[in-house]
Amino acid sequence: MKVLVIGAGNMGLTYAQGMAQSDLLKKKDLMILDSARERTDALKKNDEFDVYEKIEDCLPNADIVFIAVKPYHSDELFEAIKEHKRPGQIFISIMAGVTIKTMQEAMDIKKVVRAMPNLAAKVGHGFTSFTASKYVSRLELLTVEKLIDTTGRSIKLASEMEIDKSTGISGSGPAYIFYFMQSMMEAAVKMGFSQKDARLMVAQTFQGAVELFNSSDLDPNAWMDRVASKGGTTRAALDSMEENNVKELIKDAAHAAFERAVQLGKENNK
Ligand SMILES: NC(=O)c1ccc[n+]([C@@H]2O[C@H](COP(=O)([O-])OP(=O)(O)OC[C@H]3O[C@@H](n4cnc5c(N)ncnc54)[C@H](OP(=O)(O)O)[C@@H]3O)[C@@H](O)[C@H]2O)c1
Repeated sequence: MKVLVIGAGNMGLTYAQGMAQSDLLKKKDLMILDSARERTDALKKNDEFDVYEKIEDCLPNADIVFIAVKPYHSDELFEAIKEHKRPGQIFISIMAGVTIKTMQEAMDIKKVVRAMPNLAAKVGHGFTSFTASKYVSRLELLTVEKLIDTTGRSIKLASEMEIDKSTGISGSGPAYIFYFMQSMMEAAVKMGFSQKDARLMVAQTFQGAVELFNSSDLDPNAWMDRVASKGGTTRAALDSMEENNVKELIKDAAHAAFERAVQLGKENNK
């Protein structure tokens, strides 16, 4: 199996490095293509992957192709892929908002996987949701899943509408967590702690809470009950959040991201 990653930016490199560090592929079977000369020159120096500047030199040799360019570069890339593809290749796109139908029509291809990763893929703890056209077999999907999971974990969803929904939870989700972290750090600094101490306190508290959560099947409500005793400090904070409707506001925010994903999809796939 030979894999080509198109776009050696943030996400493309993340996937290429994830796959390179796994035992799924040998180095010679991983190719990376980018149109920016300074990027390919730097990559060649590192000697991590087979680096290409021209699509015709690498695309025909690939079995699986990751598309990791910005959506506004897609038209030009689709034209080039259409010209140099070969039958049977599987295309995995991580481009936000570009639908499977748009890709199939623009590149005259059948096997397409649309995936929505998140930023934590960069540190191997990403979450990716993906869905595929009916032409991708179950066996092929297993391979796709293994490749995607080199950057973290994933689930396969039934439809592209669910991809838009997952954008509102896991795709945009890291920013919600950072928002919460920023708020807690500002609270700590307001209480008189240094930035450095506030950062450590908040980071370790988040890390610890996630580790606890993953250590059992308990849901977050049950964990809150364990931390908060009646009349205690934690209960005072949780009561304040409930009075201020924080939970509903977070649900509204996730929904706003979902609605925006749907809207962007309509704009990008006319
Ligand atoms: N970052 C995230 O958290 C995240 C999450 C979910 C999905 N995504 C999706 O991931 C995709 C990539 O995002 P990114 O932040 O990694 O982008 P990026 O850093 O801009 O990387 C894209 C790279 O592809 C190159 N490129 C553009 N057109 C090309 C072509 N025709 N052939 C070969 N290379 C080409 C670009 O070169 P130039 O610089 O010269 O244009 C750039 O080096 C986007 O579609 C985005 O929607 C990102």
